[in-house]
Amino acid sequence: MKGLFISGERSVEVKSTDKPILDGRNDILVEVYAVAQNPPDSFSLHSNPGKPGNRLGSDYAGVVVESKSTLVKLGDRVCGMVSGNHSARQGSFAQYVAAQAELCIKIPDEMSFEKASTLGMSLYTAVQALFLKSPLALDPNHTQTILIWGASTSVGMYALQLAHLGGVRIVATTSAKNADLVSSLGANFVFDYADKDVVKKVKEATEDSVTFAFDCVGMADTIKLSVECTSDSQPSTVHTVLPPPKDLKTKDTAQVVFSLVHSIFAENLEWAAYLFPRPITIEEMEQERKEAATFFKYDQGSIYELVLDGMIKPTPIVHTSKGLENILPWLLKMEKGEVRAGKVVHLLKE
Ligand SMILES: NC(=O)c1ccc[n+]([C@@H]2O[C@H](COP(=O)([O-])OP(=O)(O)OC[C@H]3O[C@@H](n4cnc5c(N)ncnc54)[C@H](OP(=O)(O)O)[C@@H]3O)[C@@H](O)[C@H]2O)c1
Repeated sequence: MKGLFISGERSVEVKSTDKPILDGRNDILVEVYAVAQNPPDSFSLHSNPGKPGNRLGSDYAGVVVESKSTLVKLGDRVCGMVSGNHSARQGSFAQYVAAQAELCIKIPDEMSFEKASTLGMSLYTAVQALFLKSPLALDPNHTQTILIWGASTSVGMYALQLAHLGGVRIVATTSAKNADLVSSLGANFVFDYADKDVVKKVKEATEDSVTFAFDCVGMADTIKLSVECTSDSQPSTVHTVLPPPKDLKTKDTAQVVFSLVHSIFAENLEWAAYLFPRPITIEEMEQERKEAATFFKYDQGSIYELVLDGMIKPTPIVHTSKGLENILPWLLKMEKGEVRAGKVVHLLKE
């Protein structure tokens, strides 16, 4: 089969390689029809965990062509994410990908592979942050307010929809041009992240009651601003998508938590050890995988029904191209911040 591999700094090659074999936890082989891009696919071209020879790609949508699972059978249409970019063995930017049936999503009959490919890493990351790793108690009485910083990121758009379904009140930050989009996905208050008074406005709107914030950007300044938005009087958690700087100073009431979505696969995570102050144990990952399966277990996890019923909408697609050969320019655009408020999708088979 053909796959897209890193060949040097910001360069790639389409190479022939063996079809994946089903081993370890991977029990389905998927012929890939469409893939969507994520920032780690892009920054791996010049930094960790990317190395020449690694196969790129995380999100996939396609058809099952081999199955050792009793849950998913030949011909089923599935989507999701795999743990790509850090080895030659795994990566969705390829004709075939090996995946875990317990962590895939059935594609609703009416949905295209193109749209389904966006139900990948950003959705899994939002589920992990809100439900697997956080103390967020979903509150049907709408008394709890959470902050989503960077709500027009792909992660943020899914976090918004999930939190909205959970019944919490949401204060969100985004650029002014995406304010309507963010409101339409369930935010109760929307503020411009570039406004110099943004922290003051969040605190006023929420009466200083934010005890959980999800920073979907993860830069030093966005973590800091998210922390500043949390309550001064109550203990709070700021969950972030990138590791916080070691010298980050926060206030006494706030705890900053980073998690890496790849831990839900309960596979060897040594390649990511540099991201964590202490290694995640296999027991912790096994537990997380079990909990993640309640969301992503083909048609038995809650996500399938929510997508089928239109309660979770796939992220907007901002560009579609065809073929492994045309992926690199869009990864480079993503690195420059030129992909905004949506997904770039590549069709690999028609
Ligand atoms: N921890 C993990 O396992 C994990 C998994 C997946 C992704 N990530 C990380 O999560 C981050 C988001 O990923 P993604 O795929 O959701 O990104 P994305 O969709 O590519 O994000 C693009 C958006 O970022 C927004 N943005 C840029 N600077 C911002 C700022 N200072 N404040 C608020 N919003 C800002 C922009 O919003 P506007 O257009 O409104 O300006 C832009 O539309 C990335 O850093 C990625 O590496 C981590």
